[in-house]
Amino acid sequence: EDAIGWSKLQLSDTYDDSDHEYYRPQYHFAPKFGWMNDPNGLFYLDGLYHLYYQYNPFASTWGNMSWGHATTKDFVHFDHHPVALLPDELGAIFSGSIVVDKENTAGFGKNAVIAFYTNANKEDFTEQSNSMAISTDGGYTFKKYEHNPVVTFDCPDFRDPTLIRYKNQWNLFIATKQWIRIYSSQNLKEWKFESEFGHGIGNHEGVWECPTVFEVDGRWVMLLNINPGGVFGGSATQYFIGDFDGHEFKCEFPPRVVKWMDFGKDAYATVAFHNPPQLTAIAWMSNWEYGKQVPSTQFRSAFSIPRTFKIVENPTTHERDLYSIPLPSFEQCFSKAVDKITPSCLVEIELTGVTAKQVNITLKNEHEHVDMEINRCHEGRFYFTRGCQSGIHDFGTTFCATTWAPYHNKDHYLIKLFIDKHSVEAAISGGRKSFF
Ligand code: FRU
Repeated sequence: EDAIGWSKLQLSDTYDDSDHEYYRPQYHFAPKFGWMNDPNGLFYLDGLYHLYYQYNPFASTWGNMSWGHATTKDFVHFDHHPVALLPDELGAIFSGSIVVDKENTAGFGKNAVIAFYTNANKEDFTEQSNSMAISTDGGYTFKKYEHNPVVTFDCPDFRDPTLIRYKNQWNLFIATKQWIRIYSSQNLKEWKFESEFGHGIGNHEGVWECPTVFEVDGRWVMLLNINPGGVFGGSATQYFIGDFDGHEFKCEFPPRVVKWMDFGKDAYATVAFHNPPQLTAIAWMSNWEYGKQVPSTQFRSAFSIPRTFKIVENPTTHERDLYSIPLPSFEQCFSKAVDKITPSCLVEIELTGVTAKQVNITLKNEHEHVDMEINRCHEGRFYFTRGCQSGIHDFGTTFCATTWAPYHNKDHYLIKLFIDKHSVEAAISGGRKSFF
């Protein structure tokens, strides 16, 4: 009764979203208040990127899943908007995607913005169905479709619908346990089951979540998020390259070949934008191994920087690989000539004429450091160590880790470090392009 806290306790009908958290990123997207996980419904229209996200508007822990909403022109400055979708009688609002119905195929009007998301019901969220919501004001407010749910299937994991326009039809990809169910439609309302993808293909050590499908360099790519079972533990994004004909996705890799998009621990639920000027995807910069415990309180978690992709033939295996590249329009927002490393900047390290077997790079301030190593022995590797001196780390036993990717490029190396208050993302190029 005499605790000091009681005398300071006040009722409020708003949350404190003032900027006072030490680990608040300066240019990565993070909610002002509350919990965030996957990016949802990413689309581009009239010069603006719209980002929605798995959001708890009431606390910085997972729960009350809704879609938060923000817009940006450059991925550096963001406008925060009111919550776009709140839970309803069919359940919480899990992940999904958005398309702009340019030709009014669904009858909600030309350029209606249509969201597909998962309703997750019951205490353990195992009753999952897929629903639709429509916005006729460019994505700021949505009305739920009166005949929801639209796509159902008797399975406790049936979620994260991703929509694409393929020729003159729509296709829907829905993660179903450890496979993807593919549907087609003319009007977004009636759906026909086409095929299942993923049996005996890729990594199956966890649940498949948040598929995203796009075309790049004349091939079709599916990014597929898996948790657990990621390359360095917990959650990660794998990818498949192949062909899609509106009915079936055919992967060109031999069965069981597993390809990872990134070689760090914190890029999950990577999904692509609908209708972007240049192919663009972003990820939740966290991992379900410790995402709920990271040491912030007002908000929890941020998105990765935006990236684009290209396909390159691997000279050793002759298989096609997917390279991730920082989105050029975003990279241009940074000054190239840094004479001082600040808490949020881009540092480029270019090494030429390298003959040493090993090159070590340490990034440090008074309290913290992370270490990188280019190891040129044999095939070559790039190591990134987030050790026990990288800042607060005692909230999760797997947060400290050394991860690595194949990296050999004779004697020339280029490393880009995107540094922000709470994170370091490394993009290495020249050899296999990778992110950490
Ligand atoms: C992936 C995920 C999705 C689900 C959402 C719930 O991180 O588990 O499969 O829709 O998060 O917040």
